[in-house]
Amino acid sequence: MKIAILSNGNANYSTRRLVEEAEKRGHDVRVIKYKNCYISIEQGKNQVFYKGKPLEHFDAVIPRIASNMTQYGTMIVRQLEMQGDYCLSKSLAISRARNKLRSTQLLAKYGVDIPKTVVSRNTADIDDLLDQLDGCPVIIKLASGTHGNGVVLAETKKAAKSVLQAFYLTNDNGTNILLQEFIKESAGTDIRAFVVGGRVVASMQRQSLDDDFRSNLHKGGNGKIIKLTPEEEKVAVKAAKVMGLSVAGVDLMRSSRGPLVLEVNASPGFGIEKITGRNVASKMIEYVERNAKRTNHRDRIGA
Ligand SMILES: Nc1ncnc2c1ncn2[C@@H]1O[C@H](COP(=O)(O)OP(=O)(O)O)[C@@H](O)[C@H]1O
Ligand SMILES: [Mg+2]
Repeated sequence: MKIAILSNGNANYSTRRLVEEAEKRGHDVRVIKYKNCYISIEQGKNQVFYKGKPLEHFDAVIPRIASNMTQYGTMIVRQLEMQGDYCLSKSLAISRARNKLRSTQLLAKYGVDIPKTVVSRNTADIDDLLDQLDGCPVIIKLASGTHGNGVVLAETKKAAKSVLQAFYLTNDNGTNILLQEFIKESAGTDIRAFVVGGRVVASMQRQSLDDDFRSNLHKGGNGKIIKLTPEEEKVAVKAAKVMGLSVAGVDLMRSSRGPLVLEVNASPGFGIEKITGRNVASKMIEYVERNAKRTNHRDRIGA
């Protein structure tokens, strides 16, 4: 098969692993730096260009869009979908996953348990908002944050109010701000389940190194392999499905009322391979082999 990996290039570990596994399985792989692609839009003639030429047709495209390039990256993926290329992650699903509020709304609606969340533009409502969450401490987070940046633990009502005000003041691009129930039972730890095609193929527990409540590896947290309970596996698989992602990194917290989904990552990192010894790259390529041929007309329209 002719496979394209849309990414920032070979310097990226996950890109190198995908190329390696795809080549091992006999595929013809090309890494496309989507940042350098452009689109020409004209009646009946929309086309992605790369290095001065129309991009050729691929049997499968694996998008690995960076979170700070979501808009541009999903635009390129959307155009490739419209041209009839099979894209492992759909542009719509990537966009949804990049917004914590949008994801939370979808997950909750379709029966995936999440930490209770309230959203408002008004700090005047603070008493009411905190009542909804059974009081402090609460988590405050930016809908578009990543790597633990933009996630704050507010211990008191005063702190919550001033953090909210500060966020709104500096927030000129209209990002929504979420107030969330603080899951204290698992503060400082969370679970990453790597889902491919409706199955968990690797899972790890992340732990913050100091007393930070955030367990992100980018914040210095470390990971270890963990076996999920059947309930956790079910929740992870369902969360990926609700988000419309065949490949997803589902972040869970163990709470006293069962597993809660924190977020669903559309381009999960491959550090989990080193921690768990599982070959997630080959699972992804195998999934692509099984599914690329089944692209139907509806997928092609799906903007
Ligand atoms: N409601 C919560 N209760 C307790 N800890 C939380 C909560 N939300 C987030 N955290 C901690 O903060 C970390 C970062 O939050 P997350 O929502 O995953 O944002 P990011 O996209 O920045 O990783 C999580 O991995 C978790 O350790
Ligand atoms: Mg996270």
